[in-house]
Amino acid sequence: MKTLVLYYSMYGHIYTMAKAVLEGVREIKGAEVEMKRVPETLPRDVLIKMGAMDAQKAMDHIPICTVDELALADAVIFGVPTRFGNMCAQMRQFLDGAGQLWANGSLVGKIGSVFTSSATQHGGQESTILSFHTTLLHLGFIVVGLPYAFQGQMRIDEITGGSPYGASTITGGQGERMPSDNELAAARFQGKHVATIASKMFP
Ligand SMILES: Cc1cc2nc3c(=O)[nH]c(=O)nc-3n(C[C@H](O)[C@H](O)[C@H](O)COP(=O)(O)O)c2cc1C
Repeated sequence: MKTLVLYYSMYGHIYTMAKAVLEGVREIKGAEVEMKRVPETLPRDVLIKMGAMDAQKAMDHIPICTVDELALADAVIFGVPTRFGNMCAQMRQFLDGAGQLWANGSLVGKIGSVFTSSATQHGGQESTILSFHTTLLHLGFIVVGLPYAFQGQMRIDEITGGSPYGASTITGGQGERMPSDNELAAARFQGKHVATIASKMFP
């Protein structure tokens, strides 16, 4: 059973969550898992102006995914930052390259799951994940979320991401807040949950 953790991250929050998702997948015996990034679409000078270079350098060693690699995985767990309540353009561009896979039905019956981040608490995490699910359904994925079995999403004693749709983190307006222990636990749970289902479907 092969799982791909595929993400885009500009400032490293989604990358941090992706590493926790990966840990969760690895808790399932026999799970093969890889972490990859989607290609950057912004020019280097724009990334410099956006203050993203330190985070980009920290991710240099993560391989860039090609769209055909989607067909090699049994489960894909997608990580995307929120952009105006929706997935980022880098991920959109990547998925828009999946027309051939859609036409051939190559992704039908695979498991897809999504986690996200946003600057503000109500800045569109749920809309990002749910609108991402629309694309996954068009491609034939079986969508998996973050069930309430992950009780950490019920917490009201601290600010936290996480919903039945998927794990998430709140970054703050300047990206000053990194994922909390509870949000990382949600990401690990989602990884393990997807891998548990995938291991039953693709033994
Ligand atoms: C163009 C743009 C649009 C954004 N739109 C939103 C938004 O709608 N809601 C929100 O809370 N944060 C928004 N953000 C903040 C990002 O979601 C935040 O920088 C991201 O989650 C950080 O994740 P990363 O460190 O993995 O890149 C936006 C950021 C950019 C650059």
